[in-house]
Amino acid sequence: MKGVQTGMADRQILVIDDEQNIRRMLAGILEDEDYGVETVSSAEEAAERIEQIDPDLVLLDVQLPGMDGISYLKQMAGRSRMPGVIIMSGHATIDMAVQATRLGAFDFLEKPIDPERLLLTVRHAFEIRALRNENRVLREASSSVWELVGSTPSMESLRSEVGRAAPSHGRVLIFGENGTGKELVARAVHMASDRSRKPFIRVNCAAIPKDLIESELFGHEKGAFTGATQQRIGKIEQAEGGTLLLDEVGDMALETQAKLLRVLEARELERVGGRKTISFDVRVLSATNKDLQKEIADGAFREDLYYRLAVIPITVPPLRDRSDDIPLLVKHFSERFSEESGRSPREFSSDAMDSLRTHQWPGNVRELKNAVERLQIMSRGEVITLSDVRPVIGTSRPTGQVGGSFRERVERFEFDLLLDALRRNGGNVAETARELETDRANLHRKMKRFGINPRELDG
Ligand SMILES: Nc1ncnc2c1ncn2[C@@H]1O[C@H](COP(=O)(O)OP(=O)(O)OP(=O)(O)O)[C@@H](O)[C@H]1O
Ligand SMILES: [Mg+2]
Repeated sequence: MKGVQTGMADRQILVIDDEQNIRRMLAGILEDEDYGVETVSSAEEAAERIEQIDPDLVLLDVQLPGMDGISYLKQMAGRSRMPGVIIMSGHATIDMAVQATRLGAFDFLEKPIDPERLLLTVRHAFEIRALRNENRVLREASSSVWELVGSTPSMESLRSEVGRAAPSHGRVLIFGENGTGKELVARAVHMASDRSRKPFIRVNCAAIPKDLIESELFGHEKGAFTGATQQRIGKIEQAEGGTLLLDEVGDMALETQAKLLRVLEARELERVGGRKTISFDVRVLSATNKDLQKEIADGAFREDLYYRLAVIPITVPPLRDRSDDIPLLVKHFSERFSEESGRSPREFSSDAMDSLRTHQWPGNVRELKNAVERLQIMSRGEVITLSDVRPVIGTSRPTGQVGGSFRERVERFEFDLLLDALRRNGGNVAETARELETDRANLHRKMKRFGINPRELDG
């Protein structure tokens, strides 16, 4: 029997499972504990009913007829008031758990479901949810998410370069390998500048097809070209008063470079298909992992644009050159992950930490961050050990030398190739597999091995 008591309204649970006996079992257990429970048998039905039910928590089966659980989770993440989500999976694969927690699921339960664990997890979810609501406002206001972690001399000098560049209005060009933290540095420059209260807008020049980038940057008027059914305000205008990051600027087509140069010199633009001249006040930062001197020598990058953009050049060092920062970064990512997921962070044994410290990290901080999250999810013990770490970071042995073993170099090449191809295809694995003439399963295997998450390759 459901007790009528105050506070019931915030203990509403929606169960989504296609098996009737599971729905019945879950509802029985949860109602005995005075939770309000509604059950539906598909994501489609849930989508229809969720507005009326307005649950605080959703128990979501991964495998459903029609729309699957992960897709529905993504859909829910777009709601203004997202309920807490616990994933239920018959074949609780790590990948699904990783994916689900990244998408905002609180935890996962493996089927067959153990009633005791169910109640614990649900109770925990409600506690965390209450805490989270309180913390969210505070956390978003503080800038810890954008904090540049590291205390090695090279990080200290990076920080002081950021500090010097920020207050000036100079254009900053940020160099660095994949995943070193270029975007973070750009945000740090913005945050420390007098523009911090205005927008920070990023354009990924590598991810946008050549014929769309101009309308992306400058906007377009309705009817400017086939498909331009509506007026569009470009990223430069969106950044008015603030900062624009031209990310992967080394991948911009020569034609676009010429137009951009003109616009930057004139400080005014015209929307594609428009006749009005619009002046703007935007600080332009750019970032690239390419050697632009070489691109210039090859005729792939305009020298005049280079000098416009690189008034203040900043180079972010690769992680392997500041490995003493790794323990700090591991701690930082473990704590952030724990805040997001509501799980308490696990410690690393000293040999596990050593192996993280000596790994070469071809994907730099991004790869380390993915590895830490993966380890926090995967390991079931109190402490994360060397044997947990090994499969995550691959077989690379500690090497002091630049270059590393044959195998490491091949891996590095593979990693870059894969990342570039994924970027070109906007993170779409099927398209990337086609381009690389391999199958998707192979690609997924490699991505898992390198800790690449296609969702982070956004444009
Ligand atoms: N020093 C740092 N402290 C804390 N987090 C960091 C640091 N450097 C990088 N990160 C984190 O690592 C991830 C990758 O960083 P970022 O996206 O800035 O790198 P990037 O150089 O732009 O990478 P890419 O070449 O893949 O675009 C982000 O999640 C970022 O927050
Ligand atoms: Mg980047």
